Amino acid sequence: MGDPADAAHIREVGVIGAGQMGNGIAHVLALAGIEVPLYDAKPEALTRALETIGRNVDRQVAKGLVSAEAREAALRRIRPAAGLADFSRCDAVIEAATEKEDIKRAIFAGLQPHLREDCLLATNTSSLSVTRLAAATDRPARFIGMHFFNPVPVMKLVEIIRGIATDDATYRTVAGLAARLGKETALAEDFPGFMANRILMPMINEAVYTLYEGVGTIEAIDTTMKLGCNHPMGPLELADFIGLDTCLSIMQVLLDGLSDTKYRPCPLLVKYVEAGWLGRKTGRGFYDYSVTPPRPTR
Ligand code: 3HC
Repeated sequence: MGDPADAAHIREVGVIGAGQMGNGIAHVLALAGIEVPLYDAKPEALTRALETIGRNVDRQVAKGLVSAEAREAALRRIRPAAGLADFSRCDAVIEAATEKEDIKRAIFAGLQPHLREDCLLATNTSSLSVTRLAAATDRPARFIGMHFFNPVPVMKLVEIIRGIATDDATYRTVAGLAARLGKETALAEDFPGFMANRILMPMINEAVYTLYEGVGTIEAIDTTMKLGCNHPMGPLELADFIGLDTCLSIMQVLLDGLSDTKYRPCPLLVKYVEAGWLGRKTGRGFYDYSVTPPRPTR
């Protein structure tokens, strides 16, 4: 667990990428009293993110977890950024852009001329090498992995990944920042998939194989893991929630990085992604979300 005192000086944290993860990260930062410039290459994604954050904070207000005044103050702290120059005052920047290495590298290259020299850089990558991303920046010692979980306002963990060059002060500050957000932390070494996805994705992939080989139906597999193993969601429902393209790309990182055929993505997962059936975000994955309740697609 980090010590919030180690991050007491953090006043402004930029977030790059306003998708599923980026909007959740901006949400928890703003509720913790931190100023948040939020940037996305697509202006319409920024508008959508602000609406989503408003709706998600409303859930917390309805539950009595957040007061109406805290809601207003938090929403005021999130500032849509017109460009990367808006990050010049930040104490830290968290990158939560598309999970593609060339895109992340281009963002860091565009960002660093605008940053204060002491600004920390964190990536929310779910599986790319933190060390390799760090090496492409001007500050590998002040670069770290901060892996949040979806939905960010609800999930209690931040997995922290130190690159080989990350210094102790950066680690302590980032662990302290996670504590200020009310999150527990778990420290992972920088190997493919870190801890969470190294364990979770092979389980999801195995669930897809279980379906592919006809061992069970979608409903039977999900019911088994929900009721038999007390998982809040079945693995196929969870795969749809995360995004089947993300699941596939993490399996590919595990296979490439660890060179063990046990990480071979299930051909059925590949086929769903090829069909554009990516899960909840496209309205169809292992379930069809155009009906309520969602209907299994096989
Ligand atoms: N913002 C704020 N609050 C939210 C929220 C959001 N985006 N989404 C849900 N909530 C709140 C609800 O208001 C509710 O609050 P309450 O407990 O005080 O009543 C609570 O969360 C539960 O939500 P619901 O009642 O709507 O629904 P469920 O009880 O079905 O829970 C869930 C939803 C929390 C998503 C639960 O199903 C769950 O934990 N699923 C597993 C999620 C998981 O495994 N995430 C990790 C994915 S892996 C990952 O992200 C890593 C990446 O690298 C792939």
